[in-house]
Amino acid sequence: MAAARFGAAVLASILALATLASCNTEGDILYAQRQAWTDPNNVLQSWDATLLNPCTWFHVTCNSDNSVIRVDLGNASISGTLIPELGGLTNLQYLALFANNMSGPIPATLGNLTSLVSLDLHDNLLTGAIPASLGAVGTLRFLRLQGNMLTGTVPLEVLSLVLVGNLTELNVARNDLAGTGSSSKPRVTTVTQDALKIAS
Ligand SMILES: *[C@@H]1O[C@H](CO)[C@@H](O)[C@H](O)[C@H]1NC(C)=O
Ligand SMILES: *[C@@H]1O[C@H](CO)[C@@H](O)[C@H](O)[C@H]1NC(C)=O
Ligand SMILES: *[C@@H]1O[C@H](CO)[C@@H](O)[C@H](O)[C@H]1NC(C)=O
Ligand SMILES: *[C@@H]1O[C@H](CO)[C@@H](O)[C@H](O)[C@H]1NC(C)=O
Repeated sequence: MAAARFGAAVLASILALATLASCNTEGDILYAQRQAWTDPNNVLQSWDATLLNPCTWFHVTCNSDNSVIRVDLGNASISGTLIPELGGLTNLQYLALFANNMSGPIPATLGNLTSLVSLDLHDNLLTGAIPASLGAVGTLRFLRLQGNMLTGTVPLEVLSLVLVGNLTELNVARNDLAGTGSSSKPRVTTVTQDALKIAS
């Protein structure tokens, strides 16, 4: 009885360890993203899910803890959607996917990327609204969304980052945002400012 229970406990521990060993969360997320994309030029060829982590993959940069901090895939002829799981790349600082054929919405989960400094999605085919959740990313300095088909308005939460956060470049020009396309009056769609200088 006791031996059987001990055996079961050992087996459970081994199973737990095996699960941990196979759980390469950030690599799994990026590999799932690779599968959601069409990559005619094979720029993602090195994204091999059997490797221990994604740190040796081209266009991916990790910190010294083997956690992903950059994904650089601008102008790579990639098409497809952004998967919500990208919000699980907890240490991501730079996400550059500009000048591709990205379609579908900007996942609201990107608001969970609390180290994000630059979100560069300009010149794609993105639709839907700019997620208000991005207003939670106080570290964000560059938000380049120009040249998409985004609709709605720029959320106040995001605009507030210009004042209370680190946002110095917000570009939403060339979209279908309310008031920017049909309005005859010119509207400000680009906010660029130097790092905040106050009481100097
Ligand atoms: C994209 O890449 C092509 C060739 O690889 C180059 O000619 C073009 O200037 C690049 N465009 C941008 C916006 O970087
Ligand atoms: C986007 O897709 C169109 C149609 O397939 C193609 O002509 C164009 O070169 C693509 N653009 C980029 C930046 O990959
Ligand atoms: C991430 O963000 C989304 C949408 O803002 C939210 O629903 C979700 O609970 C957040 N947390 C995680 C761990 O994904
Ligand atoms: C702005 O960035 C600095 C690091 O450059 C960081 O310490 C600070 O917390 C950021 N501000 C916000 C509101 O997150």
